[in-house]
Amino acid sequence: MSNVKIFYQNFCYHIFMFNYPNRQKYLEAVKSQLEPNIFKHSLALEACMGGIYDYLATSNQLTSNEPKKDDWLLAGLIHDIDYSGEFKPFHPNKTLEVLGKYGLTISETVHNIIKAHAPEKTGFYPKNKAQWAIFCADSLTGLIVAVALVYPSKKLADVKLSSVLKRFLKEPKFAAGTRREDVKKCSLPEGLNIPLEKFIEICLEAMKEVAEEIGSY
Ligand SMILES: [Fe+2]
Repeated sequence: MSNVKIFYQNFCYHIFMFNYPNRQKYLEAVKSQLEPNIFKHSLALEACMGGIYDYLATSNQLTSNEPKKDDWLLAGLIHDIDYSGEFKPFHPNKTLEVLGKYGLTISETVHNIIKAHAPEKTGFYPKNKAQWAIFCADSLTGLIVAVALVYPSKKLADVKLSSVLKRFLKEPKFAAGTRREDVKKCSLPEGLNIPLEKFIEICLEAMKEVAEEIGSY
């Protein structure tokens, strides 16, 4: 595929996928609130949420009760917005307060998706697929970035699925902060019902689409 075609595809992806209402305002709030590495993680998880939604939608696995795609994306983008300063010890239970600083609000649907990414702190366990998606994908982004960084090029674009799977499955000390047992729950029939290998592939490809925003990968 030519570089021009790749550029055009990426351009369209950004224009159409990440163009939900007020995204720019939420993005600016997240950027000014968070350390750069957490900000990049937020962009990565937003992309993963979009990738998981698209996979489930195209394979007819989403019911009409599921949150709309914009809600999946927004939850991914802002899920860690209270992970800084005086709010950090209470993360993620201060989401609304931090958003309020910027004159922003969210729906209960988005708030519930955010709560589901850390049930041990919120008491809110994943129920719908959007909530399972954020729960399973949250810590995977860090491992994928770590794999990119051990490549000679340090570029996400070069990362092979087999490399990520090897590090995930056979090297538990690699990116040890990755909650592998949570990621593996992607295959639960009552959750996303996506095989682990496919789930990692979806997230890897989604992150490649936003590699420039995530950083110099
Ligand atoms: Fe996170």
